[in-house]
Amino acid sequence: MAQDAIALLETDHHRVEELFREYKSAGDPEAKLNLAQVICMELTLHTMVEEEIFYPAFAQATGDQQMLEHALKEHQEVKDLIAKVPHSENIDGTIEAIKTHVLHHVEEERRGMFAKARASGMELATLAGRMQTRRAEVFETIQEA
Ligand SMILES: [Fe+2]
Ligand SMILES: [Fe+2]
Repeated sequence: MAQDAIALLETDHHRVEELFREYKSAGDPEAKLNLAQVICMELTLHTMVEEEIFYPAFAQATGDQQMLEHALKEHQEVKDLIAKVPHSENIDGTIEAIKTHVLHHVEEERRGMFAKARASGMELATLAGRMQTRRAEVFETIQEA
């Protein structure tokens, strides 16, 4: 069976969690810089798909504007940190701060938004298709740039 929208987002979450572990165990600065870039790209793609497709569908299905706004505020905090990465003098510290924010946010999505989304009867299979298409589209644009 194809993955539904929540399973797709959780696959992203696990991928990023794994990247944070790789970053921590990486020794050489070039490998770390590379991983930092991959982490930022993965997070950017993920938050974009959530904000463009999953979050609006969640808000429409549940009417929970407060949960939506809280999640968007946490996304903004991560975006502000990501923007610092290219000229950060303490990249380990910046990645560590991103990790702390992201792990907290992911946990809230799991317990809060995703649980509520499942209970709401949202069209999770249809959403998954739209999310995959959009992600591939944006990924291609990034590769071409
Ligand atoms: Fe999120
Ligand atoms: Fe997420």
